[in-house]
Amino acid sequence: MSDECRVCLLGLIFLSSLLTGISGENDAHVFISSGENVRLPCNNAIHDCNSTTWNYNRFRNSTAVELIGLGIKKKDTESHERLSLGSDCSLNIRNISTEDYGLYSCQQWTGVNRDQQEGTDARVYLHVLHVSSSQTEISAGLSVTLFCQFYSYPPVSCDDSDSSERIQLFWVNQAGVKLTRSDSRYQISAPDHCIITLTTTLLNEDDNREWRCEVTQRDQVKTSVTYTVKSSAQADSTTVIPVTDSPTAAGITTEEIVIVIAVCASFVLLLLALILWMMIRKKRSGVRRATDDSVVSFVG
Ligand SMILES: *[C@@H]1O[C@H](CO)[C@@H](O)[C@H](O)[C@H]1NC(C)=O
Ligand SMILES: *[C@@H]1O[C@H](CO)[C@@H](O)[C@H](O)[C@H]1NC(C)=O
Ligand SMILES: *[C@@H]1O[C@H](CO)[C@@H](O)[C@H](O)[C@H]1NC(C)=O
Repeated sequence: MSDECRVCLLGLIFLSSLLTGISGENDAHVFISSGENVRLPCNNAIHDCNSTTWNYNRFRNSTAVELIGLGIKKKDTESHERLSLGSDCSLNIRNISTEDYGLYSCQQWTGVNRDQQEGTDARVYLHVLHVSSSQTEISAGLSVTLFCQFYSYPPVSCDDSDSSERIQLFWVNQAGVKLTRSDSRYQISAPDHCIITLTTTLLNEDDNREWRCEVTQRDQVKTSVTYTVKSSAQADSTTVIPVTDSPTAAGITTEEIVIVIAVCASFVLLLLALILWMMIRKKRSGVRRATDDSVVSFVG
């Protein structure tokens, strides 16, 4: 919801930002975490989306794949089930995967035979951040490694702070403080090929602890993926559950559990109060009846 807006905003910000280092000035750059939904804008000069064609290129030399041809979705592409054309001719992709990064181009065709291109291609570069874990089920005392990878087209350097894009990867804690190699609890790899890993031995008190991988461009956070350590039903077993920014991708959060417990507790309290009130009422009416009829009847 709000994250989608943020993503749209991101796209718009990038549309107007200068990224002469890796592409043309009018190209949009969208950063997204895997599992989220994304909307790629088309500079629609024509509002009839039957004129719209979306092409996809992952590598510079690969031939473009047509995802949408003159408003009609192609059924033979890997991602077709997750694609839809927005009312403004934008391309919507659900549940982003690491396969989706690359260059998306929107074209609009006019003329009787739809053979004249209106304007130039609207180009959107999609960059994907993904976190995976060495283990899905882990317990205290065990070592876990979290891999955070940034999939980008064209490829960028994630460790060169002098390059014009200045793309950097970080692991941060709950407070947003960067985890560094000087912290004895964590082993943080130097970013290499846009992968940064965090290795640590899980402690009992790590339950609900969050570690977040962030990708920054010129010191601005573009997107992030949060990992939360969760206790499972068994007391000594913990599970690492990936939580992206998207609420749809998240599992049951601690807040939800707390709310459920609070609701149950208030319900029980209410029930107790009701029982007490009924008992008092019964007792009173019993006393009244006793005075009226000289018959004492106690129930329960
Ligand atoms: C666009 O496509 C729809 C559905 O195929 C069709 O009903 C409509 O007439 C088309 N519009 C134009 C302007 O071609
Ligand atoms: C793309 O093509 C150019 C020249 O055609 C070549 O120099 C380059 O190595 C190719 N790149 C890849 C990734 O294949
Ligand atoms: C999203 O895609 C992943 C694989 O990339 C899949 O495991 C998962 O079930 C998908 N989620 C939804 C909600 O479709």
